[in-house]
Amino acid sequence: MEAPPEPLSASRVGSFAYLTVKDRLPKILTQIIDRLHRSRAKFHEEHGEEGSEADKKIISLLSKLRNELLTDKPITPLTDGRPDVGEWNAYLEAQRCLTAMPSWFTSAWLYVECYMYRRVQEAMALCPPLNDHDVFSELKQKSFFDSQKAIISLCDHLGEVLNKISGLNKDEVKKEFQQLLQVCLWGNKCDLSISAGKDNPQKASPLTGLNDLKAKILIDDTEAVWATLEDKLKKNPSSTQCFRLDIVLDNAGFELFTDLVLAEFLLASKLVDQIHFHGKCMPWFISDVTKEDVNFTVHLLMASNHRWSSKLGATWRSHLQDGSWVYHDHMFWTFPHEYCSMEAIAPDLYAELKRSNLILFKGDLNYRKLTGDRQWDHTTAFETALQGFHPSALCSLRALKADLQVGLQPGMAEILTAADPDWMVSGEYAVIQFSDAKQ
Ligand code: F6P
Ligand code: MG
Repeated sequence: MEAPPEPLSASRVGSFAYLTVKDRLPKILTQIIDRLHRSRAKFHEEHGEEGSEADKKIISLLSKLRNELLTDKPITPLTDGRPDVGEWNAYLEAQRCLTAMPSWFTSAWLYVECYMYRRVQEAMALCPPLNDHDVFSELKQKSFFDSQKAIISLCDHLGEVLNKISGLNKDEVKKEFQQLLQVCLWGNKCDLSISAGKDNPQKASPLTGLNDLKAKILIDDTEAVWATLEDKLKKNPSSTQCFRLDIVLDNAGFELFTDLVLAEFLLASKLVDQIHFHGKCMPWFISDVTKEDVNFTVHLLMASNHRWSSKLGATWRSHLQDGSWVYHDHMFWTFPHEYCSMEAIAPDLYAELKRSNLILFKGDLNYRKLTGDRQWDHTTAFETALQGFHPSALCSLRALKADLQVGLQPGMAEILTAADPDWMVSGEYAVIQFSDAKQ
């Protein structure tokens, strides 16, 4: 097998990786520091003098981190003693064997970006009583509240669909599936990492405008996803065999809500019997989903005085209690590894995903990890870029926010570049890209 291309890196001056490491990451650190400054009184109220002291210490650790980044200092081992430290430090050691001294501007972008978020967690971990504080929770919650109108309109829509679901014929179910898959896809525009923490809520109704957005879906494998879901029904309609769907989540707020809406529809229409969600075990890339974010979303919906919101909140809580929905948060998802190394690094997670009939990977960071964040030619087949990662049939639902895309027709990238030089990083384009494990 041919060696894969090199990973994207800030060493390519002017690239999106370079601009991210040079401008966006320091800005994100500055904003975290500002928020911590503003929270000092609150921490004092909650934890007394210890809280204010911890806040000061975290700020000084993060200022040091920002300085290391800006001056391209070597990457250093983690020291907080959390269970993932061994793997992180082994990864660094392996990098040291490859390049003289891994650093912010010379190493792989995926690695240093993940490392920055892990160092933020290290600063927190080293400073009790704030060690479990989520520095991004306020932003995530605000983005949920700011998307209220869009959430309510989607609740109303889903409510209507659920009311008539048993009477829908196959074509109607398929049409609804296509629509909700697109809502779920475009929900990925609402992440707070691309906007460096700036507001990025869903304001408009998520259903209007889907038709206009179709032209922006550069690869649309919806038919293949539908065929996978339908397969079970076709093969054996009375089968008691369970169809398991896994969703590897991305962002909290509106995007998570759209994921849950799709999950509810698939369960209620009996296309799927069980859904496993995978989130992050620590605050990550500003808006990524943690268990607390799922609980927050469900509780808030339950407490709403809007009929369908509260009903859906209660239904979703009971799905989580009766096991038709299962939430997992393996620490592999916050490692810097590309997914082709999952089987070796996290065999338990790989074995878990092998039990799935279909895995949906949400968002840009998951796409980067699926493809190793490498400098692939745009016409490279998705299967090639997955480099042997095939736990089950899988599909990436991604708004493009990093300068990498595979699986395009020859000439398409050139046409896109001529029309919009930022097509890979603006979040305006998207893909629904499928790969079947059987291929
Ligand atoms: O720093 C940029 C980045 O890693 C981009 O790849 C992407 O814009 C963002 O962070 C994460 O996006 P998502 O939430 O879709 O994974
Ligand atoms: Mg994200």
